[in-house]
Amino acid sequence: MNSNTFRKLSYGVYVVSTWDNGRPTGCTANSAMQITSSPATIAVSINHDNYTNQCIAQTGKFAVSIMAEDSDPLIIGTFGYHSGKDTDKFEKIKYEVKDYLPVVSDSCGYVVCEVIDKMETATHTVFLGEVKGAELFGDREAMTYAYYHKVVKGKSPKNAPTYIPDEK
Ligand SMILES: Cc1cc2nc3c(=O)[nH]c(=O)nc-3n(C[C@H](O)[C@H](O)[C@H](O)COP(=O)(O)O)c2cc1C
Repeated sequence: MNSNTFRKLSYGVYVVSTWDNGRPTGCTANSAMQITSSPATIAVSINHDNYTNQCIAQTGKFAVSIMAEDSDPLIIGTFGYHSGKDTDKFEKIKYEVKDYLPVVSDSCGYVVCEVIDKMETATHTVFLGEVKGAELFGDREAMTYAYYHKVVKGKSPKNAPTYIPDEK
C-alpha cells in the first residue's frame, strides 16, 4: 500500500468546537465533510484521545468554523497542538456564540450541528451532525489542507486522521 496516495485526497482546515461545562473548547480538524443536503448533515472524525471528543459526546453538539487562507495561523496551532483538558484555547482566540455554540471569529464562517449519529473506528469517532445553522463572515477564501501544507508550511499531528508517519 502506498500511503502517499492519501495525500491526493482533498480537505479543508476547520476548528471543531463545543462546550466543556460552559467553557468553550475544540480542536483543529481537517476531517469535516458534508454528507447530505436535505436535511443538511456534516460529519467530523475526532480522535478518541482528543478532549473535544468527550465534550461533543456530552453536549451532543458541535460547530465547524471554516479557516480562511488569511486566518491567523496561530488559531490552527492553538487548537491543533494543545489539549482543551488543560488549556483554555479560546482565551486568546476571538469567538462569538452562534446558535448556542462558540465559533471562531477570524474564519470564513461556520456550521452548527446537532449530533444525530456516530460511528466508532479503532482510533476515531465519526460524529454525524444535522445542520442547525450556518453563516458566512464576509467573502473570504477558504483554506484547503493543501494550502495549509504548501503555503502556511503547517504539519499535522498524530491524532489527525490524515497523519502519515514520515510526513515532512
Ligand atoms: C491541520 C490539523 C488537522 C487535524 N485534523 C484532525 C482531525 O480531523 N481529527 C482529529 O481528531 N484531530 C485532528 N487534529 C489534531 C487535533 O487538533 C489535536 O490532537 C488537538 O490537540 C486535540 O485537542 P483537544 O484534546 O482539546 O481535543 C488536527 C491537527 C491539525 C494541526
